Amino acid sequence: MAKHALSIPEAELKQLTATAAELATTYWSSLSTLPTFPSTSGPQTFELFTRPWDEAPRGSDVLQDFSVIAQHGRPSVGGFFGYVAGSGEPVGAIGDLLAGALNQNVTAWRSAPSAVVVERTVVKWLAEAIGCEGFNGSLCGGGSAANLMGLGMAREAKLPANEEGVIGGVVYASEEVHMSIAKAVALLGLGRKNLRLIPTDDQFRMRPDLLQEAIAADRRVGLKPIAVVASAGTVATGAIDPLEEIAAVARREDLWLHVDGAYGAAAALAVPERLKGLALADSLSLDAHKFLYQPIDCGCLLFRDAHFARKAFSNSGDYVQVFSQDSMEAFAFFDESMELSRRFRALKLWMSFQYHGRQAFREAILRDLAHAQTLATAIGKEPDLELLTPVTLSAVCFRHRSKNNQAILTRVIKRGRVFISNATIDGHFALRACFVNHLTTEADVEAIISEVIEAAGEVDS
Ligand SMILES: Cc1ncc(COP(=O)(O)O)c(C=O)c1O
Repeated sequence: MAKHALSIPEAELKQLTATAAELATTYWSSLSTLPTFPSTSGPQTFELFTRPWDEAPRGSDVLQDFSVIAQHGRPSVGGFFGYVAGSGEPVGAIGDLLAGALNQNVTAWRSAPSAVVVERTVVKWLAEAIGCEGFNGSLCGGGSAANLMGLGMAREAKLPANEEGVIGGVVYASEEVHMSIAKAVALLGLGRKNLRLIPTDDQFRMRPDLLQEAIAADRRVGLKPIAVVASAGTVATGAIDPLEEIAAVARREDLWLHVDGAYGAAAALAVPERLKGLALADSLSLDAHKFLYQPIDCGCLLFRDAHFARKAFSNSGDYVQVFSQDSMEAFAFFDESMELSRRFRALKLWMSFQYHGRQAFREAILRDLAHAQTLATAIGKEPDLELLTPVTLSAVCFRHRSKNNQAILTRVIKRGRVFISNATIDGHFALRACFVNHLTTEADVEAIISEVIEAAGEVDS
């Protein structure tokens, strides 16, 4: 190998790669023995990982840092039920490593011919798996980025602002909508005051009648409604808004329909009847790093009509002009997404999906849904515990009837057997377990109840 400033002797590169593979497999084998949260602290991590970037090289010693970083990281173990945290399937991680090795810039066919076609194929698989045949789209960092792009398309479709700047525009979503929607509305210059939060029914789903009323009220005072965001799996309770009824309102009112399916849309692979109406969306977000178990950094925006993606995002200067006449060769993701340089996220999906096959993912999702039902049933049998919401997908919200639930949560996390998080239900603090984890066992689910009861015994009321 030619010598240059960053050159690595070939034998050493082989050794580095082998060591990295060994570190990863050793880590994966150790997962079942790890607590759900590491024993670490802010000062300790600061002490360990805040260091100067030296002039002199450390060479392969640097790989040894992995073990310390892993030791002070939060492991994706089977007993982790906080937030909506996918479990990081290893074949996907191998795909990520190989994607880094290829270093493709998946921005246009001519910069990454195979990778662009792989991504377009994977996006089609995702769309088809959830009943949205014919949709196109692109991969992105996560649900927040996909929601931002979806609402960017909505704004450009209904109230074009790329040239003149933003003038008004009202967006509607339920009170249970994820915070990324308020963030997107703010970033798009629509103003958070123009996000209407529509009340929900007793199952935490948006009320279409109140949506209709809110739109009418805004029109009466001269405002311009542009988009509705329906949630396909709210972050707190997993509620699925009545997609077909909301789509009917959006169609009648000529509004863009964006579905935030970051958490729940992928469940349509296993339980399509619960998510009827996804295909009525104009745009839809889906996180493969949640219910499809991929390593983090795997969101997807799907859209019905690529014309609106180009309207929102195409702004090619001379620098990136496309000359080919062939429709595949002329294709550019930079015309349909907010990123220019783009990593090869699709390789992990390609490898993971092909390695395991489709049925395995369906089964993993069904297993998570079953875990949620098992937990809900177990809560029902515990006199001290109360189930607070219906279990539509895999999020379970509950509370201890007499003890301080926030104190219980802190104790449960400290004990390290299971990790749960919290939600606010009807204004009250709730305990919450969410199953999007292919490593979870029946014993992990049972441990939620015993850990909460034991933690309750350790806290004052
Ligand atoms: C319903 C919903 N939408 C959007 C997001 C944001 O996704 P990400 O964390 O991938 O940006 C989440 C994350 O949990 C979510 O549950």
